[in-house]
Amino acid sequence: MASFSGLALTLLSVVALLLGNSHAQLTPNFYEDSCPDLLSIVQAQVEIAIKNEKRMGASLLRLFFHDCFVNGCDGSVLLDDTPAFVGEKNAAPNANSVRGFEVIDVIKAAVEEACPGVVSCADILAISARDSVVQLGGPDWQVKLGRRDARTASQAAANSSIPPPTSNLSELISSYAAQGLSVQDMVALSGAHTIGKARCTTFRNRIYEEANIDSFFSNTRKPNCPGTPGQGDDNLAPLDIQTPTRFDNSYFVNLVARKGLLHSDQALFNGGSTDTIVQNYSQNPDAFIQDFITAMIKMGDIKPLTGCSGEIRTNCRRLN
Ligand code: HEM
Ligand SMILES: *[C@@H]1O[C@H](CO)[C@@H](O)[C@H](O)[C@H]1NC(C)=O
Ligand SMILES: *[C@@H]1O[C@H](CO)[C@@H](O)[C@H](O)[C@H]1NC(C)=O
Ligand SMILES: *[C@@H]1O[C@H](CO)[C@@H](O)[C@H](O)[C@H]1NC(C)=O
Repeated sequence: MASFSGLALTLLSVVALLLGNSHAQLTPNFYEDSCPDLLSIVQAQVEIAIKNEKRMGASLLRLFFHDCFVNGCDGSVLLDDTPAFVGEKNAAPNANSVRGFEVIDVIKAAVEEACPGVVSCADILAISARDSVVQLGGPDWQVKLGRRDARTASQAAANSSIPPPTSNLSELISSYAAQGLSVQDMVALSGAHTIGKARCTTFRNRIYEEANIDSFFSNTRKPNCPGTPGQGDDNLAPLDIQTPTRFDNSYFVNLVARKGLLHSDQALFNGGSTDTIVQNYSQNPDAFIQDFITAMIKMGDIKPLTGCSGEIRTNCRRLN
């Protein structure tokens, strides 16, 4: 009996340790008492922002990814550079590319008015990402909450942790593995490229130089993305040629048809180990949706600050 309860205690503490490390204390009802209208406030503002500009839903979803992959989902991507502080906004994957900061400011102001000093910018990003997916016709899920905001940022980590569009399959797999995400999570999360746009500079080499590409597709893209580097670098093209503002599985249908826009997109269906997953999602929207939700929740669990760590920023752009 004594050894049984001893074993049970040991098991309990192992479980507690595991939970403490990998899932912290995030929970969907974290603000139930402290900010009961939080979800409807964020949802209303995300809806307005997307009504003003459809692309904004994609931009908000991407912001959450770029937050979570750099030392965890801690709002670090939102911090402005100052003469005394180097943020992440000018890191290679973010500069002249990530957007939506003004919308986050508006949402944060609305939330502060209702519940001053209570809700983190990191959680606002997580809720806004989910609401954007829903608003563009994608699935709904419960967002785990209780993250706090970092008092630090890392330009170096932003440069090295967010995979570039030149990545091959093994590079993609290892960059997600470094975040505790599986190959299946990686493929499912890449389905976020069913919405939003990319600049010519990110796909020029793909449409002019690569073989694993549908020629009708590459010819469609060339007029607005000249082959000469420096010309039309910032010209935009939809990541999903079929339904660019609808959150569906057509990204995977495109990959099977060799119509992935980025090199890193087509790498998921290029004769390698992830071909079967892409094939599955292209034929089975429910499989994609189910795995996307699982992976978004896992991504949202990356190294959150909880308890007394970090702070609840008043303004998402600066430390208190
Ligand atoms: C698999 C590795 C990934 C790579 C290499 C990658 C790369 C890129 C690139 C190069 C762009 C275009 C940026 C520009 O031209 O300014 C882009 C856009 C975008 N990415 Fe990713 N991405 C990846 C994963 C993800 C994930 C996991 C998400 C979200 C869950 C995501 C969401 C988006 C969205 C929604 C856009 C469009 C943003 C907009 O229109 O403002 N990406 N990505
Ligand atoms: C990150 O990348 C940017 C753009 O390439 C570069 O200017 C900056 O020096 C890099 N920062 C660090 C800390 O590596
Ligand atoms: C992927 O890229 C890395 C780094 O450039 C390279 O070492 C590796 O051989 C590439 N893998 C494949 C399968 O092409
Ligand atoms: C397709 O994906 C779903 C969700 O991950 C999985 O349950 C199912 O077994 C997969 N089907 C095939 C044929 O791989």
